[in-house]
Amino acid sequence: MKKTLITAAIALASTAGITSQAHAADLTISCGAVGAELTLCQEGVAAWEEKTGHSVDVVSTPNSSTERLSLYQQILSANSSDIDVMQIDVVWPGLLANHLLDLREVLGDDAAAGHFDAIVTNNTIDDRLVAMPWFTDAGVLYYREDLLEKYGHTAPETWQEMTDIAREIKDAERTEGNNRMQGYVFQGRAYEGLTVNALEWVASFGGGTVVEADGEVSINNQHAAEALDLAASWIGDISPDGVLNYTEEEARGVFQGGNAVFMRNWPYAWALAQSDDSDVRGKVGVTQLPAGGENGQSAAGLGGWNLAVSRYSDNPELAADLVAFLTGEEEQKRRAIQSSYNPTIDALYQDEEVLEAVPFFGTLYETFVNAVARPSAPTGDAYGRVSNAFFSTSHDVLSGTKDGTQAVADLEAELARLKRRNW
Ligand code: GLC
Repeated sequence: MKKTLITAAIALASTAGITSQAHAADLTISCGAVGAELTLCQEGVAAWEEKTGHSVDVVSTPNSSTERLSLYQQILSANSSDIDVMQIDVVWPGLLANHLLDLREVLGDDAAAGHFDAIVTNNTIDDRLVAMPWFTDAGVLYYREDLLEKYGHTAPETWQEMTDIAREIKDAERTEGNNRMQGYVFQGRAYEGLTVNALEWVASFGGGTVVEADGEVSINNQHAAEALDLAASWIGDISPDGVLNYTEEEARGVFQGGNAVFMRNWPYAWALAQSDDSDVRGKVGVTQLPAGGENGQSAAGLGGWNLAVSRYSDNPELAADLVAFLTGEEEQKRRAIQSSYNPTIDALYQDEEVLEAVPFFGTLYETFVNAVARPSAPTGDAYGRVSNAFFSTSHDVLSGTKDGTQAVADLEAELARLKRRNW
């Protein structure tokens, strides 16, 4: 794993270097490539090139946030000037701040006016705005409207209800001949995506957020154990064994191919599920994630991506201008309408064209603004290790190596050790 990433880092860095020499590009930006991300990024960059006459190389990065972070850390710790603008995850500002430019210095104090305050605060480390909000994310439940109707159900409100409906419909559809039908697909691979899924289960059962805002490690509780045990019960029942290796795109592939009743994913999957070549076009509903047991509530994990300028950029002002353009209202509106990426500009949630393209940006507005954050703020630059410990433990429970009670006790001990040294 380590070797592959180092090789990837070198390959990425040197590709960028070689291309920029060959085309004498003024800037290099690294973008994600999940779903329509890369295309959208290339289109936005082309519009800026057209407007300014400058040229930009676009390089893509691995789909897994965990792998992307390792890559960035290697590039940045080498103080490399190869990448000027980086797409960074909402949980990374604290980890990467030292390598990033304070964008207010270049773009002015009002640089982030109109963007959600919570994201601006998240991206402000020691009074420095280290990244501009680009799109926000929250976990939502996709369901097959046609199948729920066929079997006389409405969208489930609790995980238990979801489990029962998923099993019933999966079994019935298999009997009718679709042997590949699954009940529920989600992100079960041991990576950042599982951290979000597991946090949603735990928080929805009232089990807290692993580490609380004040830095207390809270994971060792019965609600958390119960939530993880329920999720483990899905494997081999409503979810395929393969879900233990699914990221966002594997889950989307199964759902979009018409082979799952329910899916947990981010809003980007909507536009693709509704596209011309989708098997489930016109058959999909989107609602909030189910609540935990008694006294439970729906908990959507907060995600999202920002654009940052590397401190080692040779062209910081130009890079900041590109960031301002890409994160501006026009681009955010285009990305929302074309590919259902959530704006970070509040006013766009009242824009008629946006709401027509993605109705649930209106109906689930509260879900987006109240999404539950991963504990990146309280754990600071130890967040990567905290998340690793949490997704590994959750993966152990899903794969049956540990039960929930044992897992949360072990995790508490591990996090307490990290806390002593780090926060
Ligand atoms: C999405 C979210 C991001 C999260 C990742 C996990 O890309 O926007 O915040 O870390 O999924 O897979």
